[in-house]
Amino acid sequence: MAGAAMTAEAPDTVPVQLVEQPRLQKLKEIFMSKFGSAPKFYVRAPGRVNLIGEHIDYCGYSVLPMAIEQDILIAVEPAKSQVVQLANTNSSYLDFSTSVNNIEINKTKPQWHNYFLCGLKGIQVELAEICTKSERYIGTEGGGMDQAISFLAEEGTAKLIEFSPLRATDVKLPSEAVFVIANSCVEMNKAATSHYNIRVMECRLATKLLSKLKGLDWKNMLRLHDVQTKLGVSLEEMLTIVEEVLHPEPYSTEEICKCLGISLEELRSQILTQNTQDVSTFKLYQRAKHVYSEAARVLEFKKICKEAPANAVQLLGELMNQSHISCREMYECSCPELDRLVDICLQFGAIGSRLTGAGWGGCTVSMVPTDKLNTFLKNVKKAYYQTNVQRLALENNSLFATKPGRGALVFIEA
Ligand code: GLA
Repeated sequence: MAGAAMTAEAPDTVPVQLVEQPRLQKLKEIFMSKFGSAPKFYVRAPGRVNLIGEHIDYCGYSVLPMAIEQDILIAVEPAKSQVVQLANTNSSYLDFSTSVNNIEINKTKPQWHNYFLCGLKGIQVELAEICTKSERYIGTEGGGMDQAISFLAEEGTAKLIEFSPLRATDVKLPSEAVFVIANSCVEMNKAATSHYNIRVMECRLATKLLSKLKGLDWKNMLRLHDVQTKLGVSLEEMLTIVEEVLHPEPYSTEEICKCLGISLEELRSQILTQNTQDVSTFKLYQRAKHVYSEAARVLEFKKICKEAPANAVQLLGELMNQSHISCREMYECSCPELDRLVDICLQFGAIGSRLTGAGWGGCTVSMVPTDKLNTFLKNVKKAYYQTNVQRLALENNSLFATKPGRGALVFIEA
């Protein structure tokens, strides 16, 4: 077995000249004035936007986000960073060095250093999973999309993110359109409210009831994806099963307990989260319908991007629009402002527009033909932001076009 050597120089690091980076320079000054010493490194994490696949990551289904160019920066002290340099005792294997920000593993040509890079990639994936688990300490049962795209993003491409095992595959977006983020200016704090966890619980309960009613071991099933896997059927077949097995009327806790053969105490202590203990009815049919149909839309979106037919933009736009309707009607995670903003975006030239992220506030993402971008921005500003004083104050940072950006990284001052 060939040996590998690593010099202690800087994984996750990009040397930067602070004079060329006004934001970092400013950050450094503030840091120094606060703490009296200079930061040893700076960390950047990108903003993210989910193009399609809402509220399905925690059900085990793939989602399709991208990191955007906009980011946050953190200055840190102290720090130790490394560039990976690899050398081999067998001189037929050439030396290799790379920055961990740009690990490329060519599967068709398995060079020796790739085995080492696979280890590094593994650590990046593990970091994403650690961050997903960490977020749950705040109380929200998140699915891991944000953490995954934050670590695994690459400039110029969106990613299909699959879960268990966590995997990211490039999805090249059509070049004739741009994605525009628009803030509804409505805030929804996921951790301070129970909206999000109620949906996670509805999906969990739908999983348990579907499993029980289809004769599966419901106690060990947590995600709607598990039901599909165990039954070995397609997403379309799962939609039919939901219609056959669940009813559209909300389920009371009594009905759920009766169906599963458990007490209310068991339901509360073994299934529900702390902030959903007192919820008395759950919509299982609607939530499961959204999840299985949205999961199918994600796969369709990826397929269209790959095949790139002449009407790709149109087809992708339709999927985004269907996604918004499903979020609004079946998942009930929209709000009047988001619906209004989506309508405005469609009215002024977006081919597709939808709420992005958890919903109940926050942002929309719209796909706009590149040649219509300027008039689109002008008209949306006028129709949504300039009609309301509060929104007007937030206008500058609320509406922008963006491209797929790179993932998280660490800067050190050169
Ligand atoms: C939030 C969560 C994600 C995901 C989205 C909805 O952003 O953090 O894990 O569930 O909502 O798609």
